[in-house]
Amino acid sequence: MSQHDVDIAALRKDYTRAGLEEHTVHSDPIVQFSSWLNEAITAEALEPTAMVLSTVSESGSPSSRVVLLKGLDGGSMQFFTNYLSRKGRELSGNPNASLLFFWPELERQVRIEGNVERLSPEASTAYFHSRPFESQLGAAASPQSQVIPSRVALDQRFTELAAANAGRTSIDRPEHWGGFALTPSMIEFWQGRPSRMHDRIRFRKSEGAWVVERLAP
Ligand SMILES: Cc1cc2nc3c(=O)[nH]c(=O)nc-3n(C[C@H](O)[C@H](O)[C@H](O)COP(=O)(O)O)c2cc1C
Repeated sequence: MSQHDVDIAALRKDYTRAGLEEHTVHSDPIVQFSSWLNEAITAEALEPTAMVLSTVSESGSPSSRVVLLKGLDGGSMQFFTNYLSRKGRELSGNPNASLLFFWPELERQVRIEGNVERLSPEASTAYFHSRPFESQLGAAASPQSQVIPSRVALDQRFTELAAANAGRTSIDRPEHWGGFALTPSMIEFWQGRPSRMHDRIRFRKSEGAWVVERLAP
């Protein structure tokens, strides 16, 4: 059944830390999300801002990868990437996307769905220049998602870029690198409970207002 040394089908954990009620959840899901994120940071979750971003190709195939949440301004979730990467191209062709946070330390999951828009070039530039110099070089040196000949070839691109910018503390933001903001139309808060009787509170946007509903676990 299993090729693992451990029988993974037998691994089980009961979730007992907390509950989630319609009357205690904040009426603004962004405020609620922000408070859960703060609790994940306080609980010293390993990567509290790491989220799985799922995009959809032109032919309708989904793909997922982890990116980091870098801002929550105006109720949108912001992240940065290469616009020519697989995710960048898919988001340019189809703005529907989902985000997923899993904070095992708190027995919590948050699912978010919505549409993305590119951040303004000014906002992308401001964030690019807030990153360490080496990260700026890395972003500029990497043709993200493309097939490359070797690790050596990648390191060489980095070294050449570093040499060409010796003595500088920042470089220009590449035009193909920047931010996206996802405006949620659905946010679901999941809190693990004993016996698989978990709490699921879903907010969905309907005619400009949030509708709050409980879903079966
Ligand atoms: C913890 C973690 C954080 C990451 N953060 C980012 C990020 O903020 N932006 C990004 O472009 N890729 C980030 N990555 C790398 C992506 O998961 C992915 O490998 C890369 O963006 C290429 O994805 P794509 O080919 O689907 O476009 C991160 C990966 C991990 C594991």
